[in-house]
Amino acid sequence: MIKTKDLLTLGELDKKQVIQIVDLALKLKKDLKKGTAKPLLKNKTLAMIFQKPSTRTRVSFETGMFQLGGHAIHLSSQDLQLSRGETIDDTAKTLSRYVDFIMARVYDHSTIESLAKNATVPVINGLSNSFHPCQILADLMTIKEKKGKLDGLKLAWIGDGNNVCNSMLYGCAKVGISVSVAVPRGFEPNPQVVKECKSLVDIDLTQDPQKAAKDADVVVTDTFVSIHDSPGRLRKFYPKYQVNSALMAKAKKSAIFMHCLPAKRGQEVTSSVIDGSQSVVWDEAENRLHSQKALLASLPL
Ligand code: CP
Ligand code: NVA
Repeated sequence: MIKTKDLLTLGELDKKQVIQIVDLALKLKKDLKKGTAKPLLKNKTLAMIFQKPSTRTRVSFETGMFQLGGHAIHLSSQDLQLSRGETIDDTAKTLSRYVDFIMARVYDHSTIESLAKNATVPVINGLSNSFHPCQILADLMTIKEKKGKLDGLKLAWIGDGNNVCNSMLYGCAKVGISVSVAVPRGFEPNPQVVKECKSLVDIDLTQDPQKAAKDADVVVTDTFVSIHDSPGRLRKFYPKYQVNSALMAKAKKSAIFMHCLPAKRGQEVTSSVIDGSQSVVWDEAENRLHSQKALLASLPL
């Protein structure tokens, strides 16, 4: 059981809680494959609000609730009275009278903060412009699965210091993974997050992808153009920040490549890398399911 009501950034959880979720996720994955899964959330309901499109987040949460014996309701913000001006605060108060959890994918991070403040049930951030904590729970699970440990590893983040990067910094800092971030000037991760994380692990910020990738155990990138971004920014990243075979060669021979997906082959990553032997992106995508089930089963109801 974790103490925080909501998961908005990953900064809310301490090391013990992150490890607990990762370890439970690994157990739930084994239980599912063995056919010994238990209905830990029987008759519970999750409301899922989407202001933005999604493949993995929607399907993994919906399937996860089903597998846990519960139910999920997909709510496009277009279909809610939100689209006609009902406030987020009133929406949060109303949904709390029907459902046991709310997950939302939003533009402004302040929207998920208002949801959490006004909901009496746990609120999970399924991605905001600033953070993507659920992705990082799956990523940490994947790293533990592949490397057998978390503490003491080195992760290289290459490309955009975006929402996924901000939550990655929190996640890595909590579990003792040092991070080298290579991003163009002006695209750094949130400075407050960097400051907090630097007090826990080594965080190196550079504009040199080769330097960041050197001796890394894990190399990670994400799209150069997030859902809320304009396409013109691509030229700031491409080709210098592309993860290709030459960049992977700077990392350890045993390094894995990760990407939250969706990917643009030929932009932030070459197909030789994302479809190559070091890539773990399909396990990473699958682990969204198991880690979110672990999260849902750990939140205070
Ligand atoms: N990685 C991720 O969150 O994917 P979706 O946008 O498809 O949900
Ligand atoms: N940074 C990306 C992640 C998508 C899962 C975005 O916000 O669009």
